[in-house]
Amino acid sequence: MRQPPDSRPLVVGLAGFGTVGGGLARLLEENAELTRLRAGRDIVIKRVLVRDARKARNAPLPATAVLTTDPAALTDDPQIDALAELIGGIDQARALIGRALDRGKHIVTANKALLAEEGPALFKKAESMALALRYEAAVAGAIPIVQTLKESLTGNRVISLLGILNGTSNYILSEMTSGNVDFSAALEQAQELGYAEADPTLDIDGHDTAHKLILLIRLAYGVHYPYAALSIRGIRNLSTMDIRLAGEFGYSIKLIGQAREVSDADGRMRLEAGVFPALVYNRYLLARVSGVYNAVRVEANAAGSLFFHGRGAGDLPTAGAVLSDLVAVARGDRADNTGFVRQDLPAAAVLPREEGRSSFYARLTVRDRPGVLRDLAGAMAAEEVSVAQMIQKSGEGDTAPLVFMTHETTTRAMNNSLKRMVDAGLLTEPAVCYRVL
Ligand code: NAP
Ligand code: HSE
Repeated sequence: MRQPPDSRPLVVGLAGFGTVGGGLARLLEENAELTRLRAGRDIVIKRVLVRDARKARNAPLPATAVLTTDPAALTDDPQIDALAELIGGIDQARALIGRALDRGKHIVTANKALLAEEGPALFKKAESMALALRYEAAVAGAIPIVQTLKESLTGNRVISLLGILNGTSNYILSEMTSGNVDFSAALEQAQELGYAEADPTLDIDGHDTAHKLILLIRLAYGVHYPYAALSIRGIRNLSTMDIRLAGEFGYSIKLIGQAREVSDADGRMRLEAGVFPALVYNRYLLARVSGVYNAVRVEANAAGSLFFHGRGAGDLPTAGAVLSDLVAVARGDRADNTGFVRQDLPAAAVLPREEGRSSFYARLTVRDRPGVLRDLAGAMAAEEVSVAQMIQKSGEGDTAPLVFMTHETTTRAMNNSLKRMVDAGLLTEPAVCYRVL
């Protein structure tokens, strides 16, 4: 539903003039004519908020705009219709958005960290004032997955969604897999290319993926999945040895965010969700998603399987998503912020972590002695974990790495069998264990 068309330009206060903010300014200029045709009016930036006004910039300041370091110059300017929040972080972004909403401004943001943690309150506030709070750029960069879940898939029930949602981690894993550079050099490159968060630990420890997953869960299932309930594991200590061994079995290692409906032990429907590095079979499309690219696979009851692929970070890919939200605001599209009429979303029925089912890859370093293989297999058999494949590598001294791929089992059974191995003194190093998709 649209509001009556407005022929005045949409006046924007742009908060943040870094990778994405600079990209937005460039794209607005490059696509000005097309934007006018799509929105029916111009979109102009009046003020640009930065931290340091003297800093050299990669993008030229729009001719219509002045630079400021005063947030009130954006939030309190009655001529500004919409705030594009591209500063990131939590506290200042929350204050900025809250004040702009109070003053009747629509919001467009790429800030998944803020929306994951405080989205419900902000959506409620925006909704109560009939203001848009749009965030296409917050998940998977250029991939239009927010709009897809909010609009295009409303005729479907989402059974599962799974994706590579962090460009920085995927870039690092791709570089490590091809053997081009090591972990820290690849991270440095991702930072130089503008993919990484201001605090890159958010990328490599899985939190950025987790923030995006929380948003996708909200859009797909209309529930709030508490951040603290999400199991989150990143790629920080991932070794090239596991990347190589996974390759020998025909798999690539990817950082995955996953949510799916499952029935629990009592037959009740629950949501299983988590962020984890996983071995992905090389024949799957997901395994071929490399570099800064992201992908989202949605399994829906009517549509079946859908696969979305595109650049997950970077100036113009992300700016394109921000601009699409500004066009929607300029056109007066309904302020549909979550895709659900009800804004106070109920809490998700969370599947206990230990009940999650998967196949596993386990690299176990053991003393190379007769009977060790039997004892390891015994520890797994005692928990009804069934082995699908195994390889042994020659190790250093009298130790050897043994790598098992299991059939599907529960996380509890896998953890218990590893604990049995530790208790029996079988392992000379901590086990390395990943899910297999
Ligand atoms: P960035 O390059 O670090 O730029 C941040 C900008 O915000 C800078 O211009 C900075 O000013 C300004 N800023 C930061 N804190 C401020 C404050 N307290 N007051 C005023 N200005 C402030 O960040 P970015 O990569 O563009 O990311 C912006 C947002 O987009 C984040 O939420 C991020 O998660 C999200 N995002 C980024 C990407 C990507 O590819 N980079 C993709 C999707 C989503 P100075 O320049 O003066 O320091
Ligand atoms: N740091 C994020 C990434 C930016 O690497 O994917 C895009 O959200």
